[in-house]
Amino acid sequence: MTDRITIRKPDDWHLHVRDGAMLKASLPFTARHFGRAIIMPNLLPPIVGVKDAAAYRQRVLDARPEGSTFTPLMTCYLTDHTDPDEVESGFRNGVFTAVKLYPANATTNSTAGVTDYTKIRPVLARMEKIGMPFLMHGEEVGPEIDVFDREAVFIERRLIPWTRDFPGLKFVLEHVSSKIGVDYVRSAAPQVGSTITPYHLVLNRTDWLGYGLRPYMYCMPVIKTEQDRRALVEAATSGDSCFFLGTDSAPHPVAKKLAVVGIPGLFNSPVAIETYAKVFAAADALDKLETFTSLNGPRHYGLKPNTETITLERSAWTAPEEVLFDGPEERAFVYRGGEQIEWRVVHGVR
Ligand code: DOR
Ligand code: ZN
Repeated sequence: MTDRITIRKPDDWHLHVRDGAMLKASLPFTARHFGRAIIMPNLLPPIVGVKDAAAYRQRVLDARPEGSTFTPLMTCYLTDHTDPDEVESGFRNGVFTAVKLYPANATTNSTAGVTDYTKIRPVLARMEKIGMPFLMHGEEVGPEIDVFDREAVFIERRLIPWTRDFPGLKFVLEHVSSKIGVDYVRSAAPQVGSTITPYHLVLNRTDWLGYGLRPYMYCMPVIKTEQDRRALVEAATSGDSCFFLGTDSAPHPVAKKLAVVGIPGLFNSPVAIETYAKVFAAADALDKLETFTSLNGPRHYGLKPNTETITLERSAWTAPEEVLFDGPEERAFVYRGGEQIEWRVVHGVR
Protein backbone atom coordinates (compact mmCIF):
# COMPACT_ATOMS: atom_id res chain seq x y z
CA MET A 1 0.00 0.00 0.00
CA THR A 2 1.35 3.43 -0.96
CA ASP A 3 1.46 5.73 2.04
CA ARG A 4 3.24 8.69 0.54
CA ILE A 5 2.95 10.30 -2.88
CA THR A 6 4.57 13.33 -4.49
CA ILE A 7 2.72 15.02 -7.35
CA ARG A 8 3.06 18.19 -9.35
CA LYS A 9 1.24 21.02 -7.66
CA PRO A 10 -2.46 20.76 -8.56
CA ASP A 11 -4.75 23.47 -9.98
CA ASP A 12 -8.42 23.93 -9.17
CA TRP A 13 -10.32 24.47 -12.42
CA HIS A 14 -13.57 25.46 -10.67
CA LEU A 15 -13.64 27.49 -7.45
CA HIS A 16 -15.92 29.94 -5.63
CA VAL A 17 -14.17 32.21 -3.12
CA ARG A 18 -16.83 34.96 -2.87
CA ASP A 19 -15.73 38.39 -1.70
CA GLY A 20 -14.96 40.44 1.45
CA ALA A 21 -14.61 38.52 4.73
CA MET A 22 -15.55 35.19 3.15
CA LEU A 23 -12.87 35.60 0.47
CA LYS A 24 -10.26 36.30 3.16
CA ALA A 25 -11.34 33.27 5.17
CA SER A 26 -11.69 30.80 2.29
CA LEU A 27 -8.90 31.62 -0.18
CA PRO A 28 -5.99 30.47 2.03
CA PHE A 29 -7.31 26.89 1.98
CA THR A 30 -6.83 26.85 -1.79
CA ALA A 31 -3.66 28.95 -1.95
CA ARG A 32 -1.78 26.59 0.39
CA HIS A 33 -1.97 23.57 -1.97
CA PHE A 34 -2.94 24.77 -5.45
CA GLY A 35 -0.94 26.68 -8.06
CA ARG A 36 -3.87 28.26 -9.90
CA ALA A 37 -7.65 28.31 -9.76
CA ILE A 38 -10.43 29.29 -12.11
CA ILE A 39 -12.39 31.83 -10.05
CA MET A 40 -16.13 31.74 -10.60
CA PRO A 41 -17.82 35.07 -11.41
CA ASN A 42 -21.21 34.53 -9.71
CA LEU A 43 -20.92 37.36 -7.20
CA LEU A 44 -23.78 39.75 -6.53
CA PRO A 45 -23.66 41.63 -8.84
CA PRO A 46 -21.83 39.19 -11.15
CA ILE A 47 -18.46 39.84 -12.80
CA VAL A 48 -19.55 40.77 -16.32
CA GLY A 49 -16.91 43.29 -17.42
CA VAL A 50 -13.11 43.51 -17.72
CA LYS A 51 -12.82 46.29 -15.13
CA ASP A 52 -14.84 44.33 -12.55
CA ALA A 53 -12.74 41.25 -13.19
CA ALA A 54 -9.44 43.12 -12.84
CA ALA A 55 -10.59 44.66 -9.54
CA TYR A 56 -11.84 41.29 -8.27
CA ARG A 57 -8.56 39.64 -9.26
CA GLN A 58 -6.71 42.22 -7.16
CA ARG A 59 -8.92 41.47 -4.14
CA VAL A 60 -8.21 37.75 -4.57
CA LEU A 61 -4.47 38.43 -4.80
CA ASP A 62 -4.69 40.57 -1.66
CA ALA A 63 -6.38 37.69 0.22
CA ARG A 64 -3.41 35.37 -0.35
CA PRO A 65 -1.30 34.45 2.66
CA GLU A 66 2.12 36.11 2.93
CA GLY A 67 4.58 34.65 0.41
CA SER A 68 1.97 32.75 -1.62
CA THR A 69 2.49 32.44 -5.37
CA PHE A 70 -1.09 31.27 -6.04
CA THR A 71 -2.51 32.66 -9.32
CA PRO A 72 -6.23 33.37 -9.78
CA LEU A 73 -7.60 32.91 -13.33
CA MET A 74 -10.66 35.08 -13.86
CA THR A 75 -13.89 34.35 -15.74
CA CYS A 76 -16.55 36.45 -17.41
CA TYR A 77 -20.20 35.82 -16.37
CA LEU A 78 -22.19 35.37 -19.58
CA THR A 79 -25.54 37.16 -19.93
CA ASP A 80 -27.97 37.74 -22.79
CA HIS A 81 -26.21 41.09 -23.31
CA THR A 82 -22.51 40.15 -23.21
CA ASP A 83 -20.54 42.09 -25.81
CA PRO A 84 -18.07 39.93 -27.84
CA ASP A 85 -15.64 42.89 -28.00
CA GLU A 86 -15.56 43.13 -24.20
CA VAL A 87 -14.87 39.40 -23.94
CA GLU A 88 -12.10 39.59 -26.55
CA SER A 89 -10.41 42.60 -25.00
CA GLY A 90 -10.43 40.92 -21.54
CA PHE A 91 -8.95 37.76 -23.02
CA ARG A 92 -6.29 39.56 -25.02
CA ASN A 93 -5.09 41.65 -22.08
CA GLY A 94 -4.89 38.60 -19.80
CA VAL A 95 -7.73 39.46 -17.42
CA PHE A 96 -10.24 36.83 -18.59
CA THR A 97 -9.15 33.22 -18.99
CA ALA A 98 -12.61 31.92 -19.93
CA VAL A 99 -16.34 32.70 -20.15
CA LYS A 100 -18.79 30.99 -17.77
CA LEU A 101 -22.38 30.13 -18.62
CA TYR A 102 -25.01 30.02 -15.91
CA PRO A 103 -28.42 29.20 -17.34
CA ALA A 104 -30.79 31.62 -15.59
CA ASN A 105 -32.04 30.24 -12.25
CA ALA A 106 -29.99 27.06 -12.42
CA THR A 107 -28.06 27.68 -9.19
CA THR A 108 -26.70 30.22 -6.68
CA ASN A 109 -26.59 33.78 -8.06
CA SER A 110 -27.70 32.82 -11.53
CA THR A 111 -30.69 35.13 -11.99
CA ALA A 112 -28.60 37.31 -14.32
CA GLY A 113 -27.65 34.23 -16.36
CA VAL A 114 -28.63 33.34 -19.91
CA THR A 115 -32.35 33.22 -20.78
CA ASP A 116 -32.14 33.31 -24.60
CA TYR A 117 -29.54 31.08 -26.22
CA THR A 118 -29.84 32.75 -29.61
CA LYS A 119 -28.37 35.92 -28.10
CA ILE A 120 -25.07 34.35 -27.02
CA ARG A 121 -24.11 32.92 -30.41
CA PRO A 122 -21.99 35.92 -31.44
CA VAL A 123 -20.00 35.54 -28.19
CA LEU A 124 -19.43 31.82 -28.83
CA ALA A 125 -18.33 32.56 -32.40
CA ARG A 126 -15.83 35.14 -31.13
CA MET A 127 -14.47 32.77 -28.48
CA GLU A 128 -14.04 30.09 -31.11
CA LYS A 129 -12.09 32.56 -33.23
CA ILE A 130 -9.74 33.73 -30.47
CA GLY A 131 -9.27 30.33 -28.76
CA MET A 132 -11.00 31.15 -25.47
CA PRO A 133 -12.52 28.28 -23.45
CA PHE A 134 -16.26 28.13 -22.70
CA LEU A 135 -17.18 26.86 -19.23
CA MET A 136 -20.71 25.68 -18.64
CA HIS A 137 -22.97 25.03 -15.72
CA GLY A 138 -24.47 22.31 -17.90
CA GLU A 139 -28.04 22.04 -16.72
CA GLU A 140 -31.29 22.77 -18.54
CA VAL A 141 -33.87 24.21 -16.17
CA GLY A 142 -37.64 24.20 -16.63
CA PRO A 143 -40.81 23.03 -14.94
CA GLU A 144 -41.03 19.99 -17.22
CA ILE A 145 -37.44 18.85 -16.59
CA ASP A 146 -36.78 16.60 -13.60
CA VAL A 147 -33.93 17.98 -11.47
CA PHE A 148 -32.03 14.67 -11.83
CA ASP A 149 -32.22 14.94 -15.64
CA ARG A 150 -31.09 18.53 -16.03
CA GLU A 151 -27.54 17.61 -17.08
CA ALA A 152 -28.67 15.02 -19.66
CA VAL A 153 -31.22 17.41 -21.19
CA PHE A 154 -28.63 20.21 -21.41
CA ILE A 155 -26.20 17.93 -23.23
CA GLU A 156 -28.87 16.86 -25.70
CA ARG A 157 -30.48 20.23 -26.28
CA ARG A 158 -27.52 22.65 -26.05
CA LEU A 159 -24.09 21.09 -25.95
CA ILE A 160 -24.34 18.59 -28.80
CA PRO A 161 -25.59 21.24 -31.27
CA TRP A 162 -22.93 23.75 -30.10
CA THR A 163 -20.07 21.31 -30.62
CA ARG A 164 -21.24 20.93 -34.23
CA ASP A 165 -21.88 24.64 -34.84
CA PHE A 166 -18.61 25.79 -33.20
CA PRO A 167 -16.15 22.98 -33.98
CA GLY A 168 -13.12 25.05 -32.95
CA LEU A 169 -14.52 26.07 -29.55
CA LYS A 170 -13.13 24.38 -26.40
CA PHE A 171 -15.81 23.45 -23.87
CA VAL A 172 -15.71 22.49 -20.21
CA LEU A 173 -18.78 20.72 -18.84
CA GLU A 174 -18.28 21.80 -15.23
CA HIS A 175 -18.91 19.43 -12.31
CA VAL A 176 -20.11 16.49 -14.43
CA SER A 177 -22.47 14.55 -12.15
CA SER A 178 -23.94 11.61 -14.09
CA LYS A 179 -23.01 8.49 -16.06
CA ILE A 180 -24.72 10.04 -19.09
CA GLY A 181 -22.46 13.09 -18.69
CA VAL A 182 -19.30 10.99 -18.35
CA ASP A 183 -20.13 8.91 -21.43
CA TYR A 184 -20.90 12.03 -23.44
CA VAL A 185 -17.67 13.85 -22.47
CA ARG A 186 -15.60 10.83 -23.48
CA SER A 187 -17.35 10.75 -26.84
CA ALA A 188 -16.80 14.48 -27.43
CA ALA A 189 -13.18 14.72 -26.22
CA PRO A 190 -10.86 16.52 -26.81
CA GLN A 191 -13.23 19.34 -27.80
CA VAL A 192 -15.12 18.87 -24.52
CA GLY A 193 -13.43 18.39 -21.16
CA SER A 194 -14.97 18.14 -17.73
CA THR A 195 -14.24 18.92 -14.11
CA ILE A 196 -15.22 16.48 -11.35
CA THR A 197 -15.79 17.58 -7.74
CA PRO A 198 -14.63 15.64 -4.69
CA TYR A 199 -18.17 15.36 -3.34
CA HIS A 200 -19.69 13.91 -6.55
CA LEU A 201 -16.97 11.24 -6.25
CA VAL A 202 -17.88 10.41 -2.65
CA LEU A 203 -21.62 10.93 -2.11
CA ASN A 204 -24.76 9.41 -3.57
CA ARG A 205 -28.31 10.66 -3.15
CA THR A 206 -29.03 8.14 -0.42
CA ASP A 207 -26.29 9.75 1.69
CA TRP A 208 -27.95 13.12 1.06
CA LEU A 209 -31.61 12.18 1.58
CA GLY A 210 -31.78 8.65 2.96
CA TYR A 211 -30.92 9.14 6.62
CA GLY A 212 -32.45 12.54 7.31
CA LEU A 213 -32.13 15.55 5.07
CA ARG A 214 -28.54 16.76 5.03
CA PRO A 215 -28.54 20.33 3.75
CA TYR A 216 -24.77 20.50 3.60
CA MET A 217 -24.84 17.80 0.87
CA TYR A 218 -27.12 19.97 -1.26
CA CYS A 219 -25.44 21.34 -4.36
CA MET A 220 -26.11 21.94 -8.05
CA PRO A 221 -25.99 19.71 -10.00
CA VAL A 222 -27.61 17.58 -7.29
CA ILE A 223 -25.88 14.43 -6.07
CA LYS A 224 -27.10 11.47 -8.11
CA THR A 225 -27.26 7.66 -7.85
CA GLU A 226 -24.59 5.20 -6.74
CA GLN A 227 -24.30 4.08 -10.37
CA ASP A 228 -23.57 7.66 -11.41
CA ARG A 229 -21.02 8.06 -8.61
CA ARG A 230 -19.21 4.91 -9.74
CA ALA A 231 -19.05 6.17 -13.32
CA LEU A 232 -17.50 9.41 -12.03
CA VAL A 233 -14.88 7.54 -10.00
CA GLU A 234 -14.04 5.39 -13.01
CA ALA A 235 -13.69 8.53 -15.17
CA ALA A 236 -11.50 10.46 -12.73
CA THR A 237 -9.22 7.53 -12.00
CA SER A 238 -8.95 6.44 -15.65
CA GLY A 239 -6.30 9.04 -16.46
CA ASP A 240 -8.30 10.04 -19.57
CA SER A 241 -7.23 13.54 -20.47
CA CYS A 242 -10.78 14.94 -20.72
CA PHE A 243 -11.34 14.67 -16.93
CA PHE A 244 -9.68 17.00 -14.43
CA LEU A 245 -9.91 18.47 -10.97
CA GLY A 246 -12.44 21.20 -10.16
CA THR A 247 -13.59 21.34 -6.54
CA ASP A 248 -16.60 23.66 -6.95
CA SER A 249 -15.84 24.59 -3.34
CA ALA A 250 -18.64 27.05 -2.55
CA PRO A 251 -18.86 28.48 0.99
CA HIS A 252 -22.16 29.82 2.32
CA PRO A 253 -23.17 31.23 5.71
CA VAL A 254 -24.64 28.44 7.87
CA ALA A 255 -27.99 30.26 8.13
CA LYS A 256 -28.44 30.14 4.35
CA LYS A 257 -27.61 26.44 4.23
CA LEU A 258 -30.15 25.72 6.98
CA ALA A 259 -32.94 28.02 5.74
CA VAL A 260 -36.32 26.50 4.79
CA VAL A 261 -35.37 27.20 1.18
CA GLY A 262 -31.73 26.21 1.36
CA ILE A 263 -28.93 27.32 -0.92
CA PRO A 264 -26.78 24.91 -3.00
CA GLY A 265 -23.02 24.68 -2.48
CA LEU A 266 -20.45 22.68 -0.48
CA PHE A 267 -17.39 24.31 1.06
CA ASN A 268 -14.76 21.65 0.45
CA SER A 269 -11.46 23.46 -0.13
CA PRO A 270 -10.20 22.66 3.42
CA VAL A 271 -10.27 18.91 2.55
CA ALA A 272 -10.25 18.87 -1.25
CA ILE A 273 -6.91 17.43 -2.36
CA GLU A 274 -7.01 15.04 0.61
CA THR A 275 -10.46 13.76 -0.46
CA TYR A 276 -9.36 13.19 -4.05
CA ALA A 277 -6.38 11.22 -2.68
CA LYS A 278 -8.76 9.08 -0.60
CA VAL A 279 -10.92 8.32 -3.66
CA PHE A 280 -7.91 7.43 -5.83
CA ALA A 281 -6.38 5.27 -3.08
CA ALA A 282 -9.68 3.38 -2.61
CA ALA A 283 -9.77 2.72 -6.37
CA ASP A 284 -6.14 1.57 -6.27
CA ALA A 285 -5.31 4.36 -8.74
CA LEU A 286 -2.89 6.65 -6.89
CA ASP A 287 -0.62 6.36 -9.94
CA LYS A 288 -3.28 8.37 -11.85
CA LEU A 289 -3.78 11.07 -9.22
CA GLU A 290 -1.27 13.54 -10.66
CA THR A 291 -2.69 13.16 -14.18
CA PHE A 292 -6.14 14.16 -12.91
CA THR A 293 -5.10 16.87 -10.42
CA SER A 294 -2.19 18.51 -12.20
CA LEU A 295 -1.78 17.58 -15.88
CA ASN A 296 -5.12 17.13 -17.69
CA GLY A 297 -6.50 20.56 -16.72
CA PRO A 298 -3.55 22.62 -17.99
CA ARG A 299 -3.51 20.58 -21.16
CA HIS A 300 -7.19 21.30 -21.88
CA TYR A 301 -6.61 25.01 -21.25
CA GLY A 302 -3.40 25.07 -23.31
CA LEU A 303 -1.28 26.03 -20.28
CA LYS A 304 1.88 24.53 -18.79
CA PRO A 305 1.61 22.33 -15.69
CA ASN A 306 3.06 23.70 -12.46
CA THR A 307 6.70 22.91 -11.78
CA GLU A 308 6.53 22.74 -7.97
CA THR A 309 5.36 19.60 -6.17
CA ILE A 310 3.32 18.68 -3.11
CA THR A 311 3.63 15.51 -1.05
CA LEU A 312 0.66 13.71 0.50
CA GLU A 313 1.00 11.19 3.30
CA ARG A 314 -1.46 8.73 4.81
CA SER A 315 -1.68 10.32 8.25
CA ALA A 316 -4.98 11.07 9.97
CA TRP A 317 -6.22 14.48 11.10
CA THR A 318 -9.63 15.93 11.90
CA ALA A 319 -11.22 18.49 9.58
CA PRO A 320 -12.59 21.66 11.22
CA GLU A 321 -16.40 21.62 11.41
CA GLU A 322 -16.74 25.21 10.37
CA VAL A 323 -14.75 28.28 9.40
CA LEU A 324 -15.51 31.67 10.91
CA PHE A 325 -15.50 34.49 8.44
CA ASP A 326 -16.92 37.57 10.06
CA GLY A 327 -16.39 37.25 13.80
CA PRO A 328 -18.07 34.49 15.82
CA GLU A 329 -21.51 35.22 14.31
CA GLU A 330 -20.80 34.27 10.70
CA ARG A 331 -19.57 30.80 9.88
CA ALA A 332 -19.55 28.31 7.00
CA PHE A 333 -19.86 24.53 7.39
CA VAL A 334 -16.89 22.60 6.04
CA TYR A 335 -17.59 19.53 3.87
CA ARG A 336 -16.43 16.45 5.88
CA GLY A 337 -16.06 18.80 8.88
CA GLY A 338 -15.41 16.86 12.10
CA GLU A 339 -14.53 13.71 10.11
CA GLN A 340 -11.23 11.95 10.24
CA ILE A 341 -9.33 12.76 7.03
CA GLU A 342 -6.98 9.99 5.95
CA TRP A 343 -4.48 11.97 3.88
CA ARG A 344 -2.46 15.04 4.76
CA VAL A 345 -0.28 17.37 2.71
CA VAL A 346 3.11 17.23 4.36
CA HIS A 347 5.26 19.10 1.89
CA GLY A 348 4.56 22.02 -0.39
CA VAL A 349 2.20 23.76 2.05
CA ARG A 350 2.30 27.57 1.83
O1 DOR B 1 -23.89 24.00 -5.63
C1 DOR B 1 -23.49 24.96 -6.25
N1 DOR B 1 -23.07 26.09 -5.63
N2 DOR B 1 -23.47 24.89 -7.58
C2 DOR B 1 -23.20 25.95 -8.32
O2 DOR B 1 -23.23 25.83 -9.51
C3 DOR B 1 -22.90 27.27 -7.70
C4 DOR B 1 -22.41 27.12 -6.34
C5 DOR B 1 -22.41 28.40 -5.55
O3 DOR B 1 -22.03 29.45 -6.08
O4 DOR B 1 -22.74 28.35 -4.36
ZN1 ZN C 1 -19.58 26.22 -9.17
